[in-house]
Amino acid sequence: MTAAPWSPQSWKEHPAAQQPVWPDDDALEQVQKTLSTLPPLVFAGEARRLTRALADVSGGRAFLLQAGDCAESFADFSADSIRDKLKVILQMAVVLTYGAGVPVVKVGRIAGQFAKPRTSATEMVGDMELETFRGHMVNDDAPDAASRVPDPDRLIAAYHQSASTLNLLRAFTKGGFADLSQVHLWNQQFVASSDEGRRYEQIAGEIDRALHFMSACGIDLISEESLHQVDFFTSHEALILGYEESLTRQDSITGEFYDCSAHMVWVGERTRQRDGAHLEFLSGIRNPIGCKLGPTASADDVLALCERLNPERIPGRLTLITRMGAGAVADALPPLLAAVRDAGHPVVWACDPMHGNTFASDGGRKTRRFDDILAELRGFFIAHQQAGTWPGGVHVELTGDDVTECLGGFGDILEDQLHLRYTTTCDPRLNARQAIDLSFRVAELLRG
Ligand code: PEP
Ligand code: CO
Repeated sequence: MTAAPWSPQSWKEHPAAQQPVWPDDDALEQVQKTLSTLPPLVFAGEARRLTRALADVSGGRAFLLQAGDCAESFADFSADSIRDKLKVILQMAVVLTYGAGVPVVKVGRIAGQFAKPRTSATEMVGDMELETFRGHMVNDDAPDAASRVPDPDRLIAAYHQSASTLNLLRAFTKGGFADLSQVHLWNQQFVASSDEGRRYEQIAGEIDRALHFMSACGIDLISEESLHQVDFFTSHEALILGYEESLTRQDSITGEFYDCSAHMVWVGERTRQRDGAHLEFLSGIRNPIGCKLGPTASADDVLALCERLNPERIPGRLTLITRMGAGAVADALPPLLAAVRDAGHPVVWACDPMHGNTFASDGGRKTRRFDDILAELRGFFIAHQQAGTWPGGVHVELTGDDVTECLGGFGDILEDQLHLRYTTTCDPRLNARQAIDLSFRVAELLRG
């Protein structure tokens, strides 16, 4: 069988799972036309830089930290919330770099993470059956029928919110905020007074002393760029293919196509069908890409994925993000690691310890136990140690706010406290304290 040539539109020849039913095709077409004339959000050269950084991860020389919201919100959009999310990710990266002695590649689930795959097309709210919320790029989460109608103008709004978010991230990470001399300032007040905040302060103090020591030895720290800026990359699930297609551009230097909506995009557990539209789209863009793998993924599926998405076996091109669940990881992960290792595919293996561990609490809120998250991470590290492969990274859902969405952790959030500050528009996220605690545990696993 000879496959039809790839183009940014060729996904349309394949069945596309999880696409909204837009009420007006002409309106959608107009929106896509507009999007395709707007400036790219990222540049091909930046995406190539991330591929090179991830090549180091696939070779066991670096670690990937991919983190951010489950779903970004049009409603919760402010400089403070972006800054606070960035702070936590920078803190986690410091803990990992200092604690485990490996460079950390920092990738946010941010500046474009606006679309959600859903298990059912409708949900019951009281006695009303409503279309499910599919992310602010598609519809609104308010529980009434009108809010749930997909509106293509939301694609444009998502583009603009992504652009302003990215602009601020670039300013923060290149303009002094991420300077290593600022490590103390990243510790937020409500975190600083906690056990994990004090542990972090200790590392920050040691970094300060190391910097003073080097400076006293006559080393010119001012001209050392890597102490003053960080590379921070963006990523999201490439779910709504019309949006991703419209932001795909041909690179003038190489002639290759890049999805310029983010540096990295991934395909989810519900859209990774072998002959599906999502794999078709991802196979032709040259960005670094990811694929989620749940407990039903077979070794055959994964090898087929590797061949389809990275036939040239480019290191850093493909990240496999496993999300097996704490109970399944010990059985489900080893056969996949062995198959990919034996086939010689140079992948990044990352652990998403969130999505296999979600359940509804007694009050009906979706939540996750911090202990289950740690248990899956431990299972991930053990499986890699046994397979002789590199546990390359973690992929987590978090926020910089003091939310009560996941159970347990040092603050020991209980089921009857979930309602106190439960603000996520989709899945439950780690709060800043839980996230920093998690980074200490991961650093220990990496060392150990
Ligand atoms: C997600 O990352 O928010 C998500 C929906 O994950 P998965 O595809 O692994 O279920
Ligand atoms: Co999620």
